[in-house]
Amino acid sequence: MTLETIIKDRIREQGPISVSDYMQLCLSHPQFGYYIKQDPFGTRGDFITAPEICQIFGELIGIWCADLWIQSGGGPASLVELGPGRGTLMQDALRATRNIPEFHNHLTVQMIETSPVLQTAQFYTLQNAHDRIEWEETIDHLPEEPCLIIANEFFDALPIRQYVQTAEGMKERCIGIDRESNQLCFELKQQGLSLARSDSDIPVGTIIESSQASKEILGRLCDHIAEFGGAILTIDYGYLGQAHQDTLQAVKNHAFHHVLKDPGNADLTAHVDFATLREVAESHGCAVHGPVDQGAFLVRLGAEARIGALLQDASEEEGAELIEGAKRLIDPNQMGSLFKVLGITADHSLTPAGFHADPLERAE
Ligand SMILES: C[S@@+](CC[C@H](N)C(=O)[O-])C[C@H]1O[C@@H](n2cnc3c(N)ncnc32)[C@H](O)[C@@H]1O
Repeated sequence: MTLETIIKDRIREQGPISVSDYMQLCLSHPQFGYYIKQDPFGTRGDFITAPEICQIFGELIGIWCADLWIQSGGGPASLVELGPGRGTLMQDALRATRNIPEFHNHLTVQMIETSPVLQTAQFYTLQNAHDRIEWEETIDHLPEEPCLIIANEFFDALPIRQYVQTAEGMKERCIGIDRESNQLCFELKQQGLSLARSDSDIPVGTIIESSQASKEILGRLCDHIAEFGGAILTIDYGYLGQAHQDTLQAVKNHAFHHVLKDPGNADLTAHVDFATLREVAESHGCAVHGPVDQGAFLVRLGAEARIGALLQDASEEEGAELIEGAKRLIDPNQMGSLFKVLGITADHSLTPAGFHADPLERAE
């Protein structure tokens, strides 16, 4: 039995499935889901994420959290990470803030991870990082206290639906089985569909994406911080405004892969719609900061000074690796512009670091 067989059986029984159902099955099927059965990170895996590239990423995010905690007046708080991968970001964040003992003393850490394989990897990474770390599979049991919630490359893994403008109106793009080849294929659901926004002037062929799961999860996180206090920091590749194109992509062995080939054995993501995330946060009463480019955000948090400090104790080889890694995160031609950072705070009077150019930067 393979995931492809399971998907085809379902299509034969129930008809074409939505892109959202396909993503959900590929990433999270209880037995064959991509994240459920393996650790996909690193040079030997399928892709590499920012915390795995350079330690300053998690360190600066840790400092960002500690700064907000101080601005909020301290007290008990939880550091919550959504989809924490191997736990590297949290390990670096906790290490970088260890010299703020009051912060650590008040802190509980909650890791929200659906994958048992990755939960185990996180457990080993964080063995000596903090006394109070708990794991949850969903956001159903967020600590009832101020939460500093971090999500790096989390929202891009949440399912999206796709709609295509046709001469007969918008139709949903679904996944069926090609009669001749017996392979999975895209097809349009026959009945038309009306989206909430006016869609009559969108050119034929345009693809529109929508992630109900992202809206629901972010809405619930915002309600939580609105009630108990806290902030959300989300970092992802995405767009502000309408993408109006197909952003669904699969990656395997560090290269693009056909999204319908070998389901469950390649990572599947979609670009994050930051404008919608902003709207959701604002409609739940929160203050929104950014999105800003990842590169600018890290530089404003002190990336250069941190690299300078690390270089003092580094060998020549380690130093070269640090510089190369930091460059990859910050350079606009690498991850610096493609990835965006969005901050959300319950308290409208807070000024989270990294979102505003300081006066010297503006003068340049
Ligand atoms: C692209 S990885 C990002 C990993 C990590 N944040 C990093 O930067 O290395 C996506 C992560 O989200 C997790 N994940 C995917 N869908 C999830 C869901 N619905 N709830 C919780 N975790 C999820 C995956 O298991 C994985 O840990």
